[in-house]
Amino acid sequence: MKTIKLETVLTVYQSLKELPSDIVSLMSKATEARNNAYAPYSNFYVGAAIQLDNGEIVIGNNQENASYPSGLCAERTAIYYAGAKFPKAKIISMAITAGARDKKTSSPIPPCGACRQAIAEYEVKQETPIEIYFMGVTGDIIKSDSIANLLPLIFDKSAL
Ligand code: THU
Repeated sequence: MKTIKLETVLTVYQSLKELPSDIVSLMSKATEARNNAYAPYSNFYVGAAIQLDNGEIVIGNNQENASYPSGLCAERTAIYYAGAKFPKAKIISMAITAGARDKKTSSPIPPCGACRQAIAEYEVKQETPIEIYFMGVTGDIIKSDSIANLLPLIFDKSAL
């Protein structure tokens, strides 16, 4: 028997002012997307913006459905859109912002497990890390240098 210790290293920024201007502008695109989310059932609005290595920025937001499981998270809407529109581009970074309608969510909201798995697919495919920045509506911003930090013991094609 042995024990495996896994370590996750994240960077916490207390203000957008601490971030480089390209990330501030990526987060503002994510905010714009969050404001356009279609979330009439949960009233929880999520926006994501993806910076690609070809200079393009692709956005996504959560899209809900009266048949609840048919909806999709912001992160997967964005990443599948990027994969569909720019299949050869690599993802450099992703900015995510989320919050409930009636309160100014101030804690950083990380991507859900299913979205982490989807992001992991693209990180493995492109063989370079994806930087992920996530926040609430206000407050701290957390940065992960790679999806591997958010999804230890990743399941990927090497298992198949
Ligand atoms: N949601 C996202 O868009 N991303 C996540 O990572 C977590 C949850 C959405 C799905 C649903 O529309 C609403 O937030 C409440 O779960």
